[in-house]
Amino acid sequence: MSQDPAAISDRKRRVLELSRDYLMPARAAAWENLGVPLVIGRREGYRLWDIDGHELLDVHLNGGTYNLGHRNPELVEVLRQGLDELDVGNHHFPSEARVELAQKLAALTPAELHYSVFVPSGSEANDLAIRVARRATGRRKIVALEAAFHGRTALSAAAGQDDMARFFLADYPDEFVKVPFNDLDAMEQALRGGDVAGVLMETMPATYGFPVPDDDYLPGVKKLCERYGTIYIADEVQTGLGRTGHLWGIETWNVEPDVLVTGKGLSGGLYPMSAVVMTRHVGQWLTEQGWAYVSTFGGAELGCRVASRVLDMCSQPQVLANVRRLSERLTSGLEQLRQRHPFFTAVRQLGLVIGLQTASSLGGMQLSRALYQRGVWAMFSGFAPSVLQFKVGLLVDNAYCDLLLERLDAALSDVEKENA
Ligand SMILES: Cc1ncc(COP(=O)(O)O)c(C=O)c1O
Repeated sequence: MSQDPAAISDRKRRVLELSRDYLMPARAAAWENLGVPLVIGRREGYRLWDIDGHELLDVHLNGGTYNLGHRNPELVEVLRQGLDELDVGNHHFPSEARVELAQKLAALTPAELHYSVFVPSGSEANDLAIRVARRATGRRKIVALEAAFHGRTALSAAAGQDDMARFFLADYPDEFVKVPFNDLDAMEQALRGGDVAGVLMETMPATYGFPVPDDDYLPGVKKLCERYGTIYIADEVQTGLGRTGHLWGIETWNVEPDVLVTGKGLSGGLYPMSAVVMTRHVGQWLTEQGWAYVSTFGGAELGCRVASRVLDMCSQPQVLANVRRLSERLTSGLEQLRQRHPFFTAVRQLGLVIGLQTASSLGGMQLSRALYQRGVWAMFSGFAPSVLQFKVGLLVDNAYCDLLLERLDAALSDVEKENA
């Protein structure tokens, strides 16, 4: 049974104080204000325990990093065996682990995607994707959505929220053009000058609360890219690896990107790994200059071994079928809750990519706190705090889903009482 989430042990208080002193003063204060003084201790499968023992069903999963669960035993074993013979490897040379992963990605991504470059994080992957689009087109401009998150390196951040890029004086307003979501006219307007290198698109913008694009939107963006000679970059960091019921979210709309970026879950939550997968055309630079991009830890061999098994697991037909089955079960469970709770106004859903829309502007935050107290960790959307991201794991069972819905039901009642 969970212990009282409000009680704080000396051990936990020490971590919180040190985090305020040495690590993240503003972030520590924000969590304290929200009423979520979480310090993660044990973690197993789709559950976390605060170091004081408070149990949480994890439906944040770090944006899908733990799609296959925390410390998935099969992946832990792959990493353990890897440690008997490997380390990160030498970034100047190929290796069996690296080529195996690259070949697998070429086989499992849409048809024309061929070359892979490995980097430790999604931010670096998007940063590189922007550069390769520039190299392939000889143009500088990048078009991205107004409400998107692509990371926090200079280029990936410049493609996201303007004020965060400005924060470090790393905004490039002449080079990064922002357009509203789901608006093909605005996209055409941005591309029609013929000077845009790439369009960087989250398949469903996570930090904006997973709005589902209109059926013609992503195919329309791809067509416009073809018309104006622009590279389509699909940021599949959150929507890839089986979460939508397809291996890649973009397959839902049969769009074939020129570049696909994957990360988070590719690591199995155990060893950092992200990848930029490109067509031969976009990856032409790899044939021209062997050292244009090098990364000591990108393509670490231990991580390649884990990532390769992650791809095997996520692409299994029975895993994808389970995602679709779970998604239907959640659709009906969530609909029942929605009918009983006026605070819960709508569900945004594609497979297990789910956002819960609430009736109030900060409702997602309220619900995060209430769920935390009831034993669920789910995170509100940073750019749309009325929405709660609800990222259920790919391998959860029915009992887990039922318990999750039960706790959500209780948390919704708590918020409704609080707001009455
Ligand atoms: C859609 C998307 N792209 C890119 C990133 C950046 O990934 P990373 O934190 O590994 O740099 C994130 C991280 O949350 C993300 O959600």
